[in-house]
Amino acid sequence: MVSTGMRRYRVRTTTQASLVGDLGKTVLDPLALFGRTAPLRLEIGFGHGEFISQMAAAHPDEDFIGVEYDRLRVTKTAHKCNLVGVNNVRLYSGEAHTFVRDRLPSAAFQRAYVLFPDPWPKPSHRRRRLMNRAFLLDLSHAIAPKGRLIIASDTHNYAFQALSNLTTLTGLWRNCYPNGYRFEIPTRFPTVFERHKKSEGCTICYLMMERTDVPAPARAPWPIVANLGDSTVGQI
Ligand SMILES: C[S@@+](CC[C@H](N)C(=O)[O-])C[C@H]1O[C@@H](n2cnc3c(N)ncnc32)[C@H](O)[C@@H]1O
Repeated sequence: MVSTGMRRYRVRTTTQASLVGDLGKTVLDPLALFGRTAPLRLEIGFGHGEFISQMAAAHPDEDFIGVEYDRLRVTKTAHKCNLVGVNNVRLYSGEAHTFVRDRLPSAAFQRAYVLFPDPWPKPSHRRRRLMNRAFLLDLSHAIAPKGRLIIASDTHNYAFQALSNLTTLTGLWRNCYPNGYRFEIPTRFPTVFERHKKSEGCTICYLMMERTDVPAPARAPWPIVANLGDSTVGQI
């Protein structure tokens, strides 16, 4: 069901549409998209767009690409970007794994954020979690050496699962946090979910991983490994 507040985003204005990318299948060309070569950041599942719009305003010398499943949220985020006057953002409506695998150029991103991915808390639903091993392997292709992947989740077993899966991608990632995770770090631009979860008293778990310069191995065949993430839950 679409809430009354979100209905206004059913139709995109021209200025909102100017920030929304095509639904094609070709690999993105950042130079063609932004008309310049600049450091690139990626946000996956940007939701209502607080983070990507404010980050883009705070970093005018960098370019931002975001992907989000929910079409209305994409339009709402474009609206937010218009409000803060940024043009260094391109938003894509689609499924994140397919987008990462098919459309992201290799070793192109200096930062990638996955903030509060859907937790699918029921054990029988965990196979739906995005950050399975196949997704993280595909993401490893897109992140530049020394680029960083930042993950936040209030569902600690999901953060653990993501770290566990990243660890199985031998040699590709270095953990920036000596203790594995950090909790309750200050965040410049809290997302809707971050605020919501903190107001409920949840402890937020953060991961920061740095891509090494080891080339990512061949991609796993799709869709056979789509649910591999589940196989690592509980292991260490
Ligand atoms: C829990 S919300 C968090 C949104 C935002 N990052 C925040 O912290 O407020 C998860 C978001 O990821 C999107 N999402 C979930 N699975 C996705 C997928 N496979 N591809 C693209 N977006 C996805 C959802 O539509 C939703 O907006």
